[in-house]
Amino acid sequence: MGSRSPRIIPAAREISAYRGDSLILPVAEGSRPLRGIARILDAALRGAITRATQQAAFRGKLSERYLLHPSGRLGVEHLLLIGLGKRSELTLDRARNVTAEALRHLRALKAKQIAIACHETSWPGLGTEPLAQAITEGALLGLYRFDPYKGRGSRPNENEIESLTLLCSNRDAIGALRAGIGRGEVLARATNLARDLVNEPANVLTPTALANRARAAARQHGLSVEVLDRRAMQRLGMGALLGVAQGSANPPRLIILRHRRRGGRASPALGLVGKGVTFDAGGISIKQAEGMETMKGDMAGAAAVIAAMTAIAALRVPLDVVAVIPAVENLPGATAQRPGDIVRAMDGTTIEVVNTDAEGRLILADALCYTRRLGATRLVDVATLTGGVVVALGSVRTGLFANDPTLARKVEAAGEAAGEKLWQLPLDDEYEELIKSDYADLKNTGGGKKAPAIGASRFLKHFVGETPWVHLDINGTSLQEGESGYRPKGATGVMTRTLIDLVLSLAPEPHR
Ligand code: BES
Ligand code: ZN
Ligand code: ZN
Repeated sequence: MGSRSPRIIPAAREISAYRGDSLILPVAEGSRPLRGIARILDAALRGAITRATQQAAFRGKLSERYLLHPSGRLGVEHLLLIGLGKRSELTLDRARNVTAEALRHLRALKAKQIAIACHETSWPGLGTEPLAQAITEGALLGLYRFDPYKGRGSRPNENEIESLTLLCSNRDAIGALRAGIGRGEVLARATNLARDLVNEPANVLTPTALANRARAAARQHGLSVEVLDRRAMQRLGMGALLGVAQGSANPPRLIILRHRRRGGRASPALGLVGKGVTFDAGGISIKQAEGMETMKGDMAGAAAVIAAMTAIAALRVPLDVVAVIPAVENLPGATAQRPGDIVRAMDGTTIEVVNTDAEGRLILADALCYTRRLGATRLVDVATLTGGVVVALGSVRTGLFANDPTLARKVEAAGEAAGEKLWQLPLDDEYEELIKSDYADLKNTGGGKKAPAIGASRFLKHFVGETPWVHLDINGTSLQEGESGYRPKGATGVMTRTLIDLVLSLAPEPHR
């Protein structure tokens, strides 16, 4: 598990009353003359903030930082100014990012008790509750580290931050601070759970281990859980999934998590499906060695779905949600499937396996069929599916594919709220050529370099029928190469918060 996270404390009182190591003051670009709380602090520091801005040492540009030493004039050792950039460009996602950057800066200085100014004048236009939520998310996500395998000597987490106090002098704001912090904690903890699962090595996180982690998370949050083994999947006729699994000594699992709204009858459910390939060596169509270690993260879709379910339960969202995770390992063992093999999915569709490395769509085919059979009336799947999506969108935006514009817009809006960018790519019928087989109903790859992310999505489309469906290809966005804002290096946990926001937006109004 990741390192300990700080306690987040709401406080509606004067900033001068705070005692701790450090205080963070956000300042927008061109904030002269200083206003509100910045002005009060400036006066207490005999104009030190004004001098910093006049000397051009600190302009308030986005992510700019400037450290002041109040030496007895405030209850803290450090006052850290952080730039917000232009007022007109301030967003909640910027609040997440600058909070994360400021806290990592102060963690390096071994600060333990930190406060951050949450006054309306410091963060114009964001609103106290959304701001408190964004700051909480930025803090918990930005301070995340995955270090359970680091030996004592090299373990950097001796200097963990103990507490972050959200300060606001308006007494009426305490309720909004508390609510924002509460929701932010749920969303960030879920995201960090997804990150933990993705960062975990594949010798530890086998399909069985993933199922056990899902079970533990379900128990903790009050979700119902069921895990199918190979035998049960054989009975269901899941030939596409089982074909992928047959090359590994680690047996496959199908993990089913259910969240039910309280009271009322069971209602049409939203189905979430996450690709859970715990390691993708490519199978007989083996991948090249360089970078193959990142294939331990080929279950990032599964991680986002499992993590989102824990938050959906914690928030008691009044909507029925069912999650299905096909968990397998794709290895070139002696019993592995071969290129040219023909398998049969549970709905009877026959598939020619042209390339065993295009395994994600094979396991998703059976998982999507099964989720519909469980009664899902809307579907969202999340998968590290193709290299093609990285060519198209890099690591900035997640690829979105849909057979239903209404659901697509809802997912896009949820992504916007979460600060997880999406971009829709097309699914025109003409692309069907890419996956026509000479020997079976479909083949699992084709077209070479032509639109591989779309070909894969057209393949999935066969298994959702008329059910409104969105497919999210997170291959470019699930891993962060160098740290950036609230995304430390490694697993991002991407789509966890988007899925949670989506479920909140689909639930009936009064509970929002
Ligand atoms: N898990 C991979 C996606 C992937 C590709 C991750 C490249 C990182 C880098 C997926 O299972 C896969 O191997 N996709 C192949 C399909 C191809 C063989 C048709 C791809 O997109 O290259
Ligand atoms: Zn693959
Ligand atoms: Zn894969």
